[in-house]
Amino acid sequence: MTQLETYITEHESRFLDDLIDWLRIPSISTLPEHAGDIRRAAEYAAEQLRQIGFEQVHLIQTAGHPLVYGEWLKAPGKPTVLVYGHYDVQPVDPVDLWESPPFEPTIRGDNLYCRGACDDKGQTMLVFKALESLMSVNGALPVNVRVLIEGEEEAGGESIDRYVRTYPERLKCDVAFICDTHMLTKDLPTLINGLRGIIYTEVEVHGARHDLHSGSYGGVAPNPLHALALIIAGLKDAGGHIHIPGLNDKLREASETEKAFWRDDPLHLNGELLEEMGVSEFSGEKEYPPLERIGARPTLEVHGIAGGFIGEGAKTVIPATGKAKISLRLPADLKSDEVYMLFERRVKELAPAGVEVTVRKIHGGEAVIVPVDTPPMQAAASALKEVFGREPVFTREGGSIPVAALFYEILNVPVVMMGFGLPDDNLHAPNEKYSLSQFFKGIRTVVRFFQKLGE
Ligand code: BES
Ligand code: MN
Ligand code: MN
Repeated sequence: MTQLETYITEHESRFLDDLIDWLRIPSISTLPEHAGDIRRAAEYAAEQLRQIGFEQVHLIQTAGHPLVYGEWLKAPGKPTVLVYGHYDVQPVDPVDLWESPPFEPTIRGDNLYCRGACDDKGQTMLVFKALESLMSVNGALPVNVRVLIEGEEEAGGESIDRYVRTYPERLKCDVAFICDTHMLTKDLPTLINGLRGIIYTEVEVHGARHDLHSGSYGGVAPNPLHALALIIAGLKDAGGHIHIPGLNDKLREASETEKAFWRDDPLHLNGELLEEMGVSEFSGEKEYPPLERIGARPTLEVHGIAGGFIGEGAKTVIPATGKAKISLRLPADLKSDEVYMLFERRVKELAPAGVEVTVRKIHGGEAVIVPVDTPPMQAAASALKEVFGREPVFTREGGSIPVAALFYEILNVPVVMMGFGLPDDNLHAPNEKYSLSQFFKGIRTVVRFFQKLGE
């Protein structure tokens, strides 16, 4: 057994304890009342970096939540890796569906349950622990490392966007490494070569000055909830087709390899998807294979609709307002600003007479596709193969990590997206979890990845 292997094995339980302490801090970035927790979670990350031996460790104040920065640049002649993660988490509602309280880390079987257990404290912590192991055993890292941890990824990531654009020279590196994605199945190591972008919007509809009696006014009063229903139905039809003129003008053709993988589904992922969702049939565009719909087609989803009367019993009222949250996922090369304009125009066009519609963009981020034949990507693939005993697959992810496109385009470096989450980790949902064996395998894989980058 190598010294590193021994170190990791001997320290597994403390690695887990450090993660658990971090998880207890409810760092929800979208809720203002958690600002203090956000700060504590940022400081916790900074302290981890100091203990490993990182230098220049500090919080970078922003207009939003602080970034955490640290560097270790004492490997002359070796490449510099920029490590990214996020310490913020999603809200926890509906809270009664959690089997244990959302911020009380609880182990059941091989899983650690807590909001953020996977996304992204668990995955960020495993990179910290890989760095700690390398530093403790060798007294040095095999490569130069800068670490940049964000606190508002789940809220759109505006601050890191500004920071990367303003100070690219402070992030000078040869490769960016993001540990915030998942594997396709438990024994299938996965590297992500593409992410979708996103626009997240709020559509508000105003009808009459105030709520109206639905008998006295029914037939003449505009109803904002019906208007919303018409708008939503007009945006996407029953076949899953989005009706926003111009939307797909810039859509990049997928490669033949990707298309074949999606069409043939050699790993039988379609079955797993259905099982995971607990439904009997896929919805969406039948003319594209399910995996292509997730990875490479634009999608439009309604996240919530509010308005009108929904209490106990009956109330005959025509509501004065209604509101919906709607997002679009955007594969390369659909640009979020351009799509937002098309979306806004289409929503207004679909609004029936008599109502006033306002559209607001809450956040947006760009898609990215990275080449798979770069040396860092091959180093990651070979590290995965060693630890998981199987050749990894490359695939696109349907979710979004807006900073990935920035690293790729502004810093102009290869981006390695290697994560150890599993499809059933319940990201953003009740009972989020992280598999302990994935956590520990992740540490070993990242250790090997860094070593290979330094060879
Ligand atoms: N880690 C996720 C992205 C992700 C999701 C990767 C699923 C792999 C599988 C990230 O934290 C996330 O949730 N991103 C948001 C971005 C948005 C808020 C800008 C998303 O995709 O909804
Ligand atoms: Mn994440
Ligand atoms: Mn997330």
